Amino acid sequence: MQYFQYDKKGELCAEDVNLSEIANQFGTPCYVYSRNALENNWRAFDKALADIPHRICYAVKANSNIAILNILAKLDSGFDIVSIGELERVLAAGGDPNKIVFSGIGKKNSEITRALDIGIACFNVESEAELEHIQSIAKEKNKIAKIALRVNPNIDARTHPYIATGLRDNKFGIDISICLSLCQKVTGMPNLQLIGLACHIGSQLTELEPFLEAADCLLKLCDQLTEMGVHLQNINVGGGLGIIYHNENPPPIADYVAALRKKISGRNFEILIEPGRAIAANAGILLTRVEYLKVTDHKNFAIVDAGMNDLIRPALYHAWQTILPTKVHEKFPEKLYDIVGPVCESADFLGKDRKLALKAGDLLAVCATGAYGFSMSSNYNSRPRAAEVMVDGNQAHLIRKRETIEDLFSHEKIISG
Ligand code: LLP
Repeated sequence: MQYFQYDKKGELCAEDVNLSEIANQFGTPCYVYSRNALENNWRAFDKALADIPHRICYAVKANSNIAILNILAKLDSGFDIVSIGELERVLAAGGDPNKIVFSGIGKKNSEITRALDIGIACFNVESEAELEHIQSIAKEKNKIAKIALRVNPNIDARTHPYIATGLRDNKFGIDISICLSLCQKVTGMPNLQLIGLACHIGSQLTELEPFLEAADCLLKLCDQLTEMGVHLQNINVGGGLGIIYHNENPPPIADYVAALRKKISGRNFEILIEPGRAIAANAGILLTRVEYLKVTDHKNFAIVDAGMNDLIRPALYHAWQTILPTKVHEKFPEKLYDIVGPVCESADFLGKDRKLALKAGDLLAVCATGAYGFSMSSNYNSRPRAAEVMVDGNQAHLIRKRETIEDLFSHEKIISG
């Protein structure tokens, strides 16, 4: 919470801007980001990899606001994308096509075509069928597609099952047992150039071992390929480094990178890395206002104006997000509250049994929501999506205006008759 701190008056600030001022100016619910946090997190990866060839490909899905992508592009970041939408966002934000890697198991013709046209750095291929597909599109266009095989190493990332991607049961990547023969196949596909191997075993990993095991798998495959005369340019270790939401103990960025480097040292390729959460999560909070307190003998609810449509992580993964008052008042007694939204589902909670001293009208900050917060938000219950604000020192910039009611049904049409 380094970038979101209480000032001398006990009021919570984003960098040098008071969050209550942001609420007054832009309304709530509202995502607030710290530019400093984003840049420092990105730089922590860059610094740890400084003296070896590397590319940090920020995972756009974590937070795809073009202001955020632009800030990272200015640092010379690469990008990991999974759709044409993310591709166009990166381009609109000034990202370099040649630093884009394209992951995802369901790339459509139109997406592959566009990516080939703009000349992305690499397709991370996730199946044999996809290999053939890219080969045929590249042939038609008389182009060479640079590809990496995304390996599924059958490793347990020891994270929430919904965000584990490296097990055989998961739909991601190519079963490690057939990777060698597929690589051989690629050498016979004239419009494909195999430049690397990739792996992403899951997200919010809090232990080093699964990462290192996965790196071992990649390196072993690399060696086998070298023996076959296939020389790779890079190894992509994916993203997945966890952050502290509550009482987790993930390795710091520098330790995580150092451990990977140790494995890879002495080899002659570029390292690619695809962090999303570790760059964006602690760079953002969701600012929400308490609308009502519903206090009963049995349970206390603080009903706030942000719901599961704004932040789905608690409902979907039972994720813990720390919730802080923007101003601590001693006059009111602390009570245990469930912090719930207005959406008509009992899964609509942001936190349960939180000890807080509250009154209606108070502002709360839901912490570490810079990643997989806004980017997973929806219009469920016909709720306009929240505003997004970027704080830079003592300046607050609106980087996405709140959706309007008209926006909600502007694509819809009543049929005649
Ligand atoms: N690379 C690939 C191929 C990925 O699929 C992902 C995330 C990343 C990189 C970035 O992972 P990160 O460094 O952010 O852990 N909605 C979930 C997280 C889903 C992650 C999906 N893939 C959540 O809120 O926890």
